[in-house]
Amino acid sequence: MKQNILRSKLIKIFKKHKLSKEHSKICADYLIKAELVEAKSHGLTRLKMYCNRIQKKLINPKPKIKIKKISQSISHIDADNSIGFVSADIAVKQAIKNAKRTGIGLVAVKRSGHFGLSSFYAEQAVKKRLIVFCFTNAPPALAPHGAKKSLFGTNPICFGVPAGKTPFILDTSVSMINRGRIRHAHKLRRKIPYGVALNKFGKITTNAKQALQGTQLPIAGFKGSGLAWMVDILSGILTGSSHSGKTKDPFDDFSGPQNVGHLFITINPKIFIGKNFDKEMKKSIKIIKNLPKARGCDKILYPGERKNNTYKKNLKKDILIPSIIIKEIEKLDVI
Ligand SMILES: NC(=O)c1ccc[n+]([C@@H]2O[C@H](COP(=O)([O-])OP(=O)(O)OC[C@H]3O[C@@H](n4cnc5c(N)ncnc54)[C@H](O)[C@@H]3O)[C@@H](O)[C@H]2O)c1
Repeated sequence: MKQNILRSKLIKIFKKHKLSKEHSKICADYLIKAELVEAKSHGLTRLKMYCNRIQKKLINPKPKIKIKKISQSISHIDADNSIGFVSADIAVKQAIKNAKRTGIGLVAVKRSGHFGLSSFYAEQAVKKRLIVFCFTNAPPALAPHGAKKSLFGTNPICFGVPAGKTPFILDTSVSMINRGRIRHAHKLRRKIPYGVALNKFGKITTNAKQALQGTQLPIAGFKGSGLAWMVDILSGILTGSSHSGKTKDPFDDFSGPQNVGHLFITINPKIFIGKNFDKEMKKSIKIIKNLPKARGCDKILYPGERKNNTYKKNLKKDILIPSIIIKEIEKLDVI
């Protein structure tokens, strides 16, 4: 579908669901961006879920988002159960302002929802020449090390840094693959890769439905489980949001708003060594890119390079949408 047609449709759908024009545009743009970076797990496949939660009054389409100033650097946002895209967008912009003022910004968000890809927000800070960390917790998907039951989310860790034309953005969930990929595979009746999830009996499965009923595997065993816990503490406990398995799954838990928490940290990279930061960063990338390549690798990439190339490649192209998702969009468009 042509991008401009899709954008108008999405804006219209969100407006029909009572979001303001401004908030509808933010949501439409982030969904399209996920498609353009080919993160299909976080794009149009989720539109029906967001609309469903708005209809069930679990996402507030007209949130009164409050920003409490704690200091020149620190802000605490009450998202009033807004759609995550909107509160996270406001929060990262606040974190950028705070860091521009004082060298460091710390912004916590409570009572929010699923915000898509963390890199959306990291990119904004990097464009303003700041280092950034973004954290969010997510619904139960991983078992804590030694436990049988899912409790931690796939809790992504995102770190961005200005690095010349292409931003350096490491944005990774702490599970072998993100849960959205499993949801998407389930919707399209596809298999998931081997070794990323267990069924409810603790056996490895490549069946998406069974994986959703079982547990996903963390990256690097107990280390990944520890990182998931860290993100849950920073995004959940510290911000005053749900934590320890209480974050509601947006797809199938309708017992209340998700109450997701996010944390954004922005840092002026020049605070310690001034302009030398950029010089040393360039040097670091050059040293690493020039290393002898491992077998099968012809180019060493830094985190974010591949996604940036994908985005540029797709920027002017139509978006390919599976028929099952086209049907969902058309249905929402005529409500
Ligand atoms: N909102 C939520 O609740 C939630 C939860 C989980 C994940 N997510 C999002 O899902 C997205 C995908 O997560 P994922 O775990 O599937 O990430 P991924 O596996 O696609 O990528 C992980 C990281 O590895 C880097 N990378 C990939 N190939 C590389 C290469 N050849 N050389 C160097 N670096 C390379 C990428 O740039 C990225 O930073 C993220 O944007 C994350 O924020 C969101």
